[in-house]
Amino acid sequence: MSQPHPENVYLPKIAIMDRVVEEIADVKTFYWHFEDPAEQAAFRKFLPGQFAQVSVFGAGEFPASLPPSPTEEELFFTVRRVGSVTAALHQLQPGDKFAVRGPYGNGFPMNQYFGQNLLFVAGGIGLIPLRSCLNYALDNRDRYGKIQLFYGARGLKDLMYLGALREWEMTRGFECYLTVDRGDDQWTGHVGVVGSLFRKPGVTVPVENTTAFVCGPPIMFRFVIRDLLGMGFQDTNIVSTLERYMKCGVGKCGHCCIGLAYVCADGPVFTYEQIKRLGEDI
Ligand SMILES: Cc1cc2nc3c(=O)[nH]c(=O)nc-3n(C[C@H](O)[C@H](O)[C@H](O)COP(=O)(O)OP(=O)(O)OC[C@H]3O[C@@H](n4cnc5c(N)ncnc54)[C@H](O)[C@@H]3O)c2cc1C
Ligand code: FES
Repeated sequence: MSQPHPENVYLPKIAIMDRVVEEIADVKTFYWHFEDPAEQAAFRKFLPGQFAQVSVFGAGEFPASLPPSPTEEELFFTVRRVGSVTAALHQLQPGDKFAVRGPYGNGFPMNQYFGQNLLFVAGGIGLIPLRSCLNYALDNRDRYGKIQLFYGARGLKDLMYLGALREWEMTRGFECYLTVDRGDDQWTGHVGVVGSLFRKPGVTVPVENTTAFVCGPPIMFRFVIRDLLGMGFQDTNIVSTLERYMKCGVGKCGHCCIGLAYVCADGPVFTYEQIKRLGEDI
């Protein structure tokens, strides 16, 4: 008697686009749901920091972070158009079908941080992978100590999730500091690289019992790490997500390997201590 086929891990599930929101130039947020409610329910058990493989028919597949928190109702991706597949996703309209498989990766162990202060440091679209755990922490506000976000972008029009930022700012005990590299007439806030916010008068960053989440372009990452280590942070208390070319997303093809680690399966969340041990040159 033939055995039933095990689930094919590469088989994406049909998703339907609900609405598309322009975030900043070349970056859109895509709200969607699975065609099959059972798939929707299974997928919704994702963890902050996990990712999914997104397929656009006739174009290909690419990995994308899951920016919503599991505590939010809607599923969405925020994607920058850089090449052929992301450009094809940007063409999709509400009602169009595409496909998703996942969730994949380790995610941030949010339970391990209960009782701790959380310091989020993001540059540009680096806020996409951090959005989920930040929103999760704010939705579970009483379980964490101080929650701070330091977010920088090139200019005012490069700051993402402005609607969410305004909502988050209303949360009790949440400190949000924004900066732009280049100010203009419409910007009355801080001007300078994101790390310069740590030295702003009136800003206090607790180091003891604090985990720092850092995501952004490599140059920003290097300078922020230098600042954090100078402030007394340990390598083990700094976490980030790594991006690598991925194919399978499930630890089988080897495309994403750094040394002995599969970024798709062992990551994408790593501590700075692990990143250094892997010899990763960020
Ligand atoms: C775990 C993970 C999560 C990600 N989350 C997001 C997300 O939430 N939103 C988002 O916009 N992007 C995200 N990315 C990056 C995204 O997967 C790539 O931009 C996408 O694969 C590009 O596909 P493409 O066919 O459009 O472009 P391609 O033609 O493949 O590439 C176009 C350009 O982008 C560069 N590029 C492609 N992939 C990567 C990569 N992984 N890292 C660095 N440079 C790359 C190429 O070198 C090339 O210059 C994530 C990547 C990973 C690994
Ligand atoms: S993408 Fe295939 S092993 Fe990671």
